[in-house]
Amino acid sequence: MTFQVTPLNAIGADVAGFDIREPLDGDQQRELRDLWYRYGLLRFRGQDITPERQIAFSRIFGPLKMHPLKVQTSAEYPELFVLESGTDNDRHMLAYYDGKAVVGRLDWHMDLHYTGRPNHGAVLTAVEVPGEDGLTGFGDLAKAWDALDEATRAQLAKLEVAYCFSMQRRHMRYVNLKGYEPGPAMAKKPADLGYPDFADAVYPAVIKHPVSGCQVLQIVEQFLDRVITPQKFGLSNDESIELLERLVAHTRRPEFHYFHEWQPGDMVLWDNWRLMHCATGTPPGVRRVIHRTTIKGDRVLGRTLD
Ligand code: SIN
Repeated sequence: MTFQVTPLNAIGADVAGFDIREPLDGDQQRELRDLWYRYGLLRFRGQDITPERQIAFSRIFGPLKMHPLKVQTSAEYPELFVLESGTDNDRHMLAYYDGKAVVGRLDWHMDLHYTGRPNHGAVLTAVEVPGEDGLTGFGDLAKAWDALDEATRAQLAKLEVAYCFSMQRRHMRYVNLKGYEPGPAMAKKPADLGYPDFADAVYPAVIKHPVSGCQVLQIVEQFLDRVITPQKFGLSNDESIELLERLVAHTRRPEFHYFHEWQPGDMVLWDNWRLMHCATGTPPGVRRVIHRTTIKGDRVLGRTLD
């Protein structure tokens, strides 16, 4: 083995002995892909990262996807998505949680889950590290599946769940809305941000990972909407809602999570077919810049209700 791999406390692994400036041979690239599938999340520290190096590193894991939102795409590097806060644009990402103003907080989600064809993975790198907050959280849904009791697993093996895209958090059914108030400049409909309208996406409640074969729970709080035809499976509407509430609470258990506190030189890679992620956000005016590259999803994992 070329790299020194240390599992993190709950999920994922730290990779040392890696230098993004050095070219990698075929064996080393294969080793990194194997580690990505084995741990779901890889953390690299102390790297001398440039956009070119991040793009070249990300390509080891598959072809890259450009982001549909051109305003947040780097003009020079179309593969690079720039997540920036601490600018005039903060007001579009501002919301209140128990009266506290927060910019850029994101609930647990999987990228492009709402399309039925989620991205395969992504790489985040620290460009400007916030003085406070601004963590990125990751949650392992393979581990969450493994921790479910047999009766729940047998029930979920028959069910499908629907995801309904919305720009308005207060209409999402399974996120925690207690104490939440949107800011006045938050987008209200997809067109406000240049998004198309998305049809609902439907997934089996558990999916076999296309490469590693592990079982992945498909319960992710953002956009989660309903069980499809619950009566067909002996569930009343109330029971299907209680089931989803119980499963969302299960995915929020800290033993499935890793929260990354950004330091200069950090790079995190994750498998979006297995892990959900979230962002804690920052107070208004706090500078935070993260560069993100996205590994394209080449499989349709859900179906859309067109
Ligand atoms: C994301 O990629 O969903 C955002 C991650 C972050 O801003 O920490």
